[in-house]
Amino acid sequence: MIETITELDQLRARVCEWKRQGLRVGFVPTMGNLHAGHYSLVMLARQYADRVVSSVFVNPTQFGPNEDYTRYPRTPEADMSGLEGAGCDVLWLPTVESMYPFGIELAANVHVPGVSGVLEGEHRPGHFDGVCTVVSRLFNQVQPDVAAFGKKDYQQLAVIRQMVTDLAFPIEILAGSIVREADGLAMSSRNQYLDADQRPRAAEIRRTLQDMIDGMRAGKSRTEVEAAAAQRLAAAGFVVDYAAVRRHDLGEPGADDAGAKVALIAARLGRTRLIDNLEF
Ligand code: PAF
Repeated sequence: MIETITELDQLRARVCEWKRQGLRVGFVPTMGNLHAGHYSLVMLARQYADRVVSSVFVNPTQFGPNEDYTRYPRTPEADMSGLEGAGCDVLWLPTVESMYPFGIELAANVHVPGVSGVLEGEHRPGHFDGVCTVVSRLFNQVQPDVAAFGKKDYQQLAVIRQMVTDLAFPIEILAGSIVREADGLAMSSRNQYLDADQRPRAAEIRRTLQDMIDGMRAGKSRTEVEAAAAQRLAAAGFVVDYAAVRRHDLGEPGADDAGAKVALIAARLGRTRLIDNLEF
């Protein structure tokens, strides 16, 4: 039976007890409205830990002023039973007041320079400050040995890894594979914003990522590949934030860079902003 905890003291007592018993603690932070991608992270954490905590907290500080904080889908009942089915032991439900005890304006901020500033950082200024600020708090609250993040948020994973190294959190970061719908669309809580006309078109993102990889493998230049991808998405009705080929550390690859890379897309269909990536 999953245990729901809403008080920090109770969470600390539960985790302390596990640690006294020599058990390893895994953690999966989420914003709720959970789907198979989240549950795969719980199962991944379970492979590296004896007990798993998952948090559901729609974090106001990582949403921009015109983003979907208030309409972000909240489905607490379904989340709880899904987490239980995936093998989660504790559901941690902090409140905005307990997460930011001095209020958001006076909150101590965590900013990770460099990798936070590119791609998503250019289009969602302050987003990763909000993510790092809340994840560092969640790490201090839960005190896990391992924590799992999805590769769909490729840049978020890179930012979190840098934060964990830089701030010396004694936590191993696990990366979970992207879970996709049958037509290739990466699972996301925001997919449900898509209407019946937009939903099939959204799968064009995955096809375009493959096209980018094929283009790079065929020897086309990075700028040529990025421009063709943006054009293809625009023709399918997307407003494109970026279609980019980057090194694995998200730096810009040189012309004869033979190392591993990643193709990344962020694009909007109507009001819905979708992101996805493919490593190659
Ligand atoms: O990936 C998410 O859902 C969020 O950014 C996270 C890591 C739970 C922080 O709010």
